[in-house]
Formats: sequence, C-alpha cells, structure tokens
Amino acid sequence: MEIEIKFTLNDRAVQVRVPPSMTTLSMLREKFDLTGGKLACGEGECGACTIKIDDRTINSCLMFAVDCDGREIQTIEGLGSVAGLEIMQQAFVDHGAIQCGYCMPGMIMQARYVVDQNAGRDPLTRDDIARGLEGNVCRCSGYTKVVDAVAAVVLEEAAL
Ligand code: FES
Repeated sequence: MEIEIKFTLNDRAVQVRVPPSMTTLSMLREKFDLTGGKLACGEGECGACTIKIDDRTINSCLMFAVDCDGREIQTIEGLGSVAGLEIMQQAFVDHGAIQCGYCMPGMIMQARYVVDQNAGRDPLTRDDIARGLEGNVCRCSGYTKVVDAVAAVVLEEAAL
C-alpha cells in the first residue's frame, strides 16, 4: 500500500506516493534523489539527516514521509547550489570546516537555522553556536573550524 502526499520541497510543489513506513530521509533520497542528508545513526542522535520543515529543523530519519503532507521542506540542496553557494555553505568551505563531508549537510542546515533563529538579537557567541550545534555529531572536524565558520557568518550578517 502507498499513500499519496503533496508538499513543498525546496520551493517547488511536489507530490509522491510513499509506503506508510517510509522515513522522510528515505523518501528524499530515494524518490527525489536529494542525497545531501545522510543516514548515520538512524535514531535521532547524530543530526546527519537534518532538514528544515516549516520553521524548525528535524532529524528526517525519525519522521515518517507521510507526515510531510502539506508541509514546507528545505534540504541542503535547496539552500544553495554548486554554482552559487549560500553564505553558510561558503563559510564552511572557506574555514576548512569540511573534512569527509558526511555530516556537513545536516550540520550546515542546523547552523543556518541557529543563526536565523537569532536574527535581531545580540550576536551569537561561540558558546551559543556550539550549543546550537550540539545535536550534530562530526567525527573528523573537531568542531573548532565549524564554529569558526558559523561565527564568521554571524559577524558578516550582523554587518549587513
Ligand atoms: Fe538521523 Fe542520525 S541519522 S539523527
């Protein structure tokens, strides 16, 4: 049995048929070829599958695809493009924050969310940034350069 759902995906209206037990992460990867979000723990512990849904981020490995019906979803592929990286993506590149890259799509989605949530308030400190990213695990970056990248975006956007 499959269920038809309709939702907005990276600013585009889409519809798809999915099995009731399919996760949002699997749907994005298998039905839409959006492979930025990764399956790592599959238990909501690592953040490698982070996407934005409506106005918050979620671990897409824990959400059923059918629950996307009527929602607005953004993946890393909708944040920027290879030809035009979004400012957070570019900052991760510029600051050497990306190593193997496996966790980075989720990390960048969460970083973008944390900074956007703070708009109009005092700039985030490095501790604030680290706290905001504590649900995103990286085995090879050591986090320092990740925080460097996000802090640079905070400074850059505060100057705009
Ligand atoms: Fe979803 Fe780890 S794969 S939180």
